[in-house]
Amino acid sequence: MTTTTRQATQETAAASARGLTKTYGQGDAQVHALRGIDLDLPRGRFAAIMGPSGSGKSTLMHCLAGLDQATGGTVTVAGTDLGSLDDDALTIFRREHVGFVFQSFNLLPMLTAGENIMLPLELGGRRVDDAMRERAHLLADILGVADRLGHRPAELSGGQQQRVAIARALITQPDLLFADEPTGNLDSATSAEVLDHLRRSARELGQTVVMVTHERDAAAYADYVVTMQDGRIV
Ligand SMILES: Nc1ncnc2c1ncn2[C@@H]1O[C@H](COP(=O)(O)OP(=O)(O)OP(=O)(O)O)[C@@H](O)[C@H]1O
Ligand SMILES: [Mg+2]
Repeated sequence: MTTTTRQATQETAAASARGLTKTYGQGDAQVHALRGIDLDLPRGRFAAIMGPSGSGKSTLMHCLAGLDQATGGTVTVAGTDLGSLDDDALTIFRREHVGFVFQSFNLLPMLTAGENIMLPLELGGRRVDDAMRERAHLLADILGVADRLGHRPAELSGGQQQRVAIARALITQPDLLFADEPTGNLDSATSAEVLDHLRRSARELGQTVVMVTHERDAAAYADYVVTMQDGRIV
C-alpha cells in the first residue's frame, strides 16, 4: 500500500493501529505480546481475530479498546489518538465510543433485562429520552428479546442473556463493539443465534464489530478474519 492510500484507509477506518507493541514484565520475564501491529478496522464491518492461545488476541483487543496501554505505536479510534488521553479521559472515551461483550455475560442479576440494557446510558449520565427508549426497543426486537425485557437474567437462557448483553453494549451507539469469545459459554445452536445477531448488527445497523475467537465456525460469520501468531498479524 502507498502512504497516501494507507492514510486514506486510516481516515475511513473505525479504528487503526500503527506499529503497535505491548511488552509485559521486565528482564528475563519479559513477554512480547504484540510485536508491531498495523491494522485498519473498516467501519460497519464484522471482523474476527483468530490465532492460537497466547498469540496476543486479547492483548490486541484491550489496546484497541483503551482498556490497556500499549508499550509503543499508536491506536486511533473514531479519529482520536488514545495515547493522547489520560486515565480519566480514557474512561470517558470508552464509555462514549466503545461497547463490550464478554464470555460471561456480566449482566447485573438484580436488574431486569430492560434495566440492564439502559444501564450504560444512566452510568454515562445521559438523560433517557424517547429516542433512547425507541433505540432500546429496536435493539431488543432485532436481538429477539423484546418479550423478555421485564425478566431478570436468572430467568433467561444463556443465549438470551448474551443477546441482552449485546443490546446493552449497542445502546450507546458505540463506534466499536468488542466481543472476546462471546460464544465461549454457549452450546452450538445458541452460539449460531448470537453470531447471527452480531452479523446483523453490522449489516443492518452499520455497527463495527470486532470479535476474538478461536473457533473457525464462529469466525465464518465475520466479514473478514485477522489471524495472529506470536504477537504478529500473519
Ligand atoms: N498481564 C499480563 N502479564 C504478563 N503477561 C501477560 C499478561 N497478559 C497476557 N500476557 C502474555 O501475553 C501473551 C499474549 O496473551 P493474550 O492474552 O493476548 O493471548 P490470547 O491470544 O488472547 O490467548 P487465549 O486464546 O488463550 O485467550 C501471552 O504469552 C500471555 O501469557
Ligand atoms: Mg484471550
